[in-house]
Amino acid sequence: MFLIGLTMLTFQFNDIHTYANTEDVLSTHLSLDLTLDFDQKVISGTCEITLDYQVPKAKVDYLDLDVSKLDIKSVTAAGKALDFHIGTNTSDMGSRLHIHLGANKPDKVLITYSTSPDAAAVQWLSPEKTTSKKYPYLFTQGQSIFTRTWIPCMDSPGVRVTYDAVIHVPVGLTAVMSAHHGKHEPEAGVFRFNMDRAIPPYLIALAAGEIAFKAISERAGVYAEPAVLEKAAWEFADMEKMIQAAEGLFGTYQWGRWDAIVLPPSFPFGGMENPMLTFATPTLIAGDRSLVATMAHELAHSWSGNLVTNATWADFWINEGYTVYLERRIMEKIYGSEVAEMDKLLGQRDLRDEVADFNKKGMPGDTVLHIDLEGRHPDEGFSSIPYETGANFLMLLEATFGREKFDTYLKKYFHTFSFKTITTPASLAFMKKELFGGDASLWQKLKVDEWAYGKGIPDNILTPVSDKFDKTRAAASSFSDNGSLQAVKQDWITAEWLDFLNSLPEKMSQQRLAALDEAHKLTQTGNSEILFAWEMICVRNNYEPAYDALRAFLSGMGRRKFLKPLYQALQDNPKTRAMGKDIYTKARAGYHPIAQTTIDDIVK
Ligand code: BES
Ligand code: ZN
Repeated sequence: MFLIGLTMLTFQFNDIHTYANTEDVLSTHLSLDLTLDFDQKVISGTCEITLDYQVPKAKVDYLDLDVSKLDIKSVTAAGKALDFHIGTNTSDMGSRLHIHLGANKPDKVLITYSTSPDAAAVQWLSPEKTTSKKYPYLFTQGQSIFTRTWIPCMDSPGVRVTYDAVIHVPVGLTAVMSAHHGKHEPEAGVFRFNMDRAIPPYLIALAAGEIAFKAISERAGVYAEPAVLEKAAWEFADMEKMIQAAEGLFGTYQWGRWDAIVLPPSFPFGGMENPMLTFATPTLIAGDRSLVATMAHELAHSWSGNLVTNATWADFWINEGYTVYLERRIMEKIYGSEVAEMDKLLGQRDLRDEVADFNKKGMPGDTVLHIDLEGRHPDEGFSSIPYETGANFLMLLEATFGREKFDTYLKKYFHTFSFKTITTPASLAFMKKELFGGDASLWQKLKVDEWAYGKGIPDNILTPVSDKFDKTRAAASSFSDNGSLQAVKQDWITAEWLDFLNSLPEKMSQQRLAALDEAHKLTQTGNSEILFAWEMICVRNNYEPAYDALRAFLSGMGRRKFLKPLYQALQDNPKTRAMGKDIYTKARAGYHPIAQTTIDDIVK
């Protein structure tokens, strides 16, 4: 249980996804010394945890940490062994590491441990899985509760720690982390890092492999495998512009540098907002900078998420809903409102589809912004709802109060809760006071409680207009009605293509699909978002000429946003079920453990 005091109100919150006894003691700093063993697929070494007692020391007998499949060799304080035991492992939460603090109540404990080869946070890639095929590669993914599979810690977003790390890698490899760089000794395979801002443990991240760097500006740059570096740096050339746009909107960027690392294709997400070092999928490299909204999104997390953090995973929308809203403000500022409006509309369609889907599956509870995760893994709360319902709620507030007032409020929110965590009720209480000036009838009129705690989408959602999408929708109708491709334009931007494809009816004839494919070479597109939307249509309609490309797409990358709906569509169609299973059987080993878990549930 945590206590937060806020303008005379006190909020209690309980993170059900941690074993940590945070009411007694908090961890404040982690000091890591870790060696990567690519042959055994094991990380081993030490983690020293600095403690801050929350109640008189005499009342605190033990320290509870989160671990998952860690082999704990010893726990010591000032060189003396401490007794400990490890509770039973539950697949969702891992185990409690229960450490007896003894009579001395130490301020630091040192844990010597090693990870399991199937640690969920870690993907180990053999050299063949990399571009140059010369060196192995490793990367971690902490969000939501996977850090405990490689670091023993209080693995709750409500606990913040600074950290330092010494990472030992085979000579020839480079290590990077979500932190400042210290004194590296590449010739000895030693890399040092230091994160001096307190962050939740899910943001501790590590990648190691054949990694090169190219600067974009004084404070921004891109890491990637050498063969990908130039393309990656070109694609993300606007990173500096994005920082400037974001600072103009939300206040000073607090993290010093902003670098990105383009990971191997198995990275399970589009992007991950690890502080100072966004992790990104190579599927963003379209060759025309058309998928950079994801970079704006990860940058926006430097305010919403990394500065002001969801207190528990039930409050995930506080990270993602705010971030999608901020992402579109950055996009609007750099690329114009037409682009931003199109992104909003694409998001609303995803949202409506997903709400309909949850209702169809008899899971209307999962359409609630403040989601109930009792007895579930936090990842089960992952859907468009926290992202898009959250962002649309904020768009409604912006429209109601006007930009000026809303921006002032946003800045105050970020300022007030910087380096803190916040619950849904606490954020709404702050909003009611600071934005609504306590106006309860306006609060009711805007249906704020329904937005936060109700099922589905409140009827006062605002739907933007887009002339461009009027055209793509007209094009979709005339094409599906009479086969006319006249209004379908080769020079559409990605968003227009997505809206066109998503506006086609469920069922399309083979002839129509063949004509479209012939005219616009969709099966051959190098744009991952367009290919994804196209292949969804092809699977639904048994359009076999696109199946080789589908197989290559599903085997060549591990981004969960693409894998999950495609495997689901393959599974739902009796004619493609066997093919889906065959593709998955061959591709599974190349996916990150997090993606494997998701797809295992779909392909049975
Ligand atoms: N923080 C998320 C990724 C994430 C969420 C990882 C939950 C693990 C659990 C990241 O910021 C994100 O939202 N990425 C999106 C891109 C965005 C443009 C919507 C993605 O990966 O597609
Ligand atoms: Zn995000």
